[in-house]
Amino acid sequence: MRSHYCGDLRAAHDGDTVTLCGWVHRRRDHGGVIFLDLRDRAGLVQVVFDPDTEQAFALADKARSEFVLRVTGRVRMRDEAVRNPRMATGDIEVLGKELEILNVAETPPFELDEYGGAGEEVRLKYRYLDLRRPEALERFRFRSRLTHVVRAYLEKEGFMDVETPVLTRATPEGARDYLVPSRTHAGSFFAMPQSPQLFKQLLMVAGFDRYYQVAKCFRDEDLRADRQPEFTQIDLEASFVEEKDIMGVAEGMVRSAFRDMLDVDLPDFPCMTYEEAMRRFGSDKPDLRIDLELVDVADLMDGVEFKVFAGPAKDPRGRVAALRVPGGSELSRGQIDEYTKFVGIYGARGLAYIKVNDAAAGRDGLQSPILKFLPDEAVAGIMERTGAQSGDLVFFGADKARVVNEALGALRVRLGHDLGRVKGDWAPLWVVDFPMFEEDDDGSMNALHHPFTMPKCEPGELVDNPAQALSKAYDMVLNGTELGGGSIRIYRQDMQKAVFRALGISEQEADEKFGFLLDALKYGAPPHGGLAFGLDRMVMLMTGAESIRDVIAFPKTQTASCMMTHAPSPVENALLREVGIQVRKPDTDK
Ligand code: AMO
Ligand code: AMP
Repeated sequence: MRSHYCGDLRAAHDGDTVTLCGWVHRRRDHGGVIFLDLRDRAGLVQVVFDPDTEQAFALADKARSEFVLRVTGRVRMRDEAVRNPRMATGDIEVLGKELEILNVAETPPFELDEYGGAGEEVRLKYRYLDLRRPEALERFRFRSRLTHVVRAYLEKEGFMDVETPVLTRATPEGARDYLVPSRTHAGSFFAMPQSPQLFKQLLMVAGFDRYYQVAKCFRDEDLRADRQPEFTQIDLEASFVEEKDIMGVAEGMVRSAFRDMLDVDLPDFPCMTYEEAMRRFGSDKPDLRIDLELVDVADLMDGVEFKVFAGPAKDPRGRVAALRVPGGSELSRGQIDEYTKFVGIYGARGLAYIKVNDAAAGRDGLQSPILKFLPDEAVAGIMERTGAQSGDLVFFGADKARVVNEALGALRVRLGHDLGRVKGDWAPLWVVDFPMFEEDDDGSMNALHHPFTMPKCEPGELVDNPAQALSKAYDMVLNGTELGGGSIRIYRQDMQKAVFRALGISEQEADEKFGFLLDALKYGAPPHGGLAFGLDRMVMLMTGAESIRDVIAFPKTQTASCMMTHAPSPVENALLREVGIQVRKPDTDK
């Protein structure tokens, strides 16, 4: 239907007759001449209709925003004075000769070039209109090219694309499963995969050696700005490998993606243990662009009168940490109150601080509501350890280690942004030596990565002392976001059984849920390992999008529903009967 894309026309087309198809982006009437900005996938071009071409002019007069048109006309240079350097096609315009209105459009529920005012709900309800905005389109073009670059890299490295099932059994990654009822086995359910984890391991047992897949994963979990219930992984697995092999391939892939897509040479990826990351940054995904660090001070506080500090200092699961903020004594009371409220989100019950007005003046140079509770040695110890200087402020967190890490870890990032301490564009790293398990408050153990991860100890040691066990897991972190994670896997049955035992999974339950995996481990499973990247997160970081929803064509809301299709939705009783389901009335009294 067309000869060119609107956005592709340039001065070189001067004099050419072209046929374009697209949407009316804007329409202006200028003293008897009509200007239409026509938009398609490639961009905008200005089309001019003058009253001489009577028929086309009359139709142009009827055209409104978002009408779909087909225009034939002649490209001509714009007068020097009215060229538009901000438009790729700004040197030229098309003099419209023929016009066909292919379709009319109602007035869109929001302006396509000024969407700031429209709420996200409305934009998601009319997602197909929202996606007409050029910057939205640009992000999907980026995503498509990135996927291509990644595939090309992995194919070149000998990885083979294999599809794994979506209707399957539970694949535990720590979230709830989405379930699908079976008609042929009424009362039984498929689970949607939280990742292709077990299948890719079975492909290694099969001898495929190097697998990858751009795989949809489904997790019913609490959503945040970087999480969706349905998301895409770049998933890979290889046999006869150690940590460094997988980390090497993954790093190579990300480097080549950054080079090809953004012309960026990423800096070296330092390797940091989980223990160090938590100690220095309160997070297992530290943003290394920010130079603020946590410092432990529990040993200075275990004897002090101030119970808020002494309690956690004496608790083996407690932590007392300080965060020095250079120049922070400028912070006002109101700002400190605001930060106190902020750490409250993470469960912190307060945010003690000391302002350092004059570091040389000892106690007299300090200002703090908690100073009166602290003996000289404690104060001197804090000053020395944090290296606080005149003009600085030191914040404190004291609580269970988990609360302190989350609160001060988040505060560190927030302060970094608020105080302009984010240095450089890209700061990648590997976090390694994760604990195998994390202990719940009730003393039960959960796998920190997943239960198929190889511990760094023997099965006996694992059962005797699970809390101490480290694992062969690694996460790639970029600017404070976990881009990907993986591990070397258990390939021997005795070790897999020991892990299930440590997790409190009985032999019978293990057989029921993972019998097929335990079976496979009997038949010559090779040593293997892998990793999965969050593709959506990668696109989000690389395009600077604010939310993961911006890089998913049809995303779900924070409550895991689709505004456009109204999924999930009730279904007819007849359908429910077929799959053997009777729906209970939702509890209304809870
Ligand atoms: P993991 O659970 O760490 O590992 O997931 C790998 C990567 O997937 C991305 N990701 C998500 N992205 C968007 N929304 C979500 N809800 C979401 N959950 C995870 C993250 C994360 O780093 N099978 C293992 C991988 C392996 O061991 O090989 C796994 O799924 O970027
Ligand atoms: P309070 O004794 O509750 O008046 O607290 C004295 C100071 O300690 C205040 O500045 C509180 O914000 C701070 N604070 C209270 N609880 C904690 C805590 N768990 N961690 C850090 N600071 C705290």
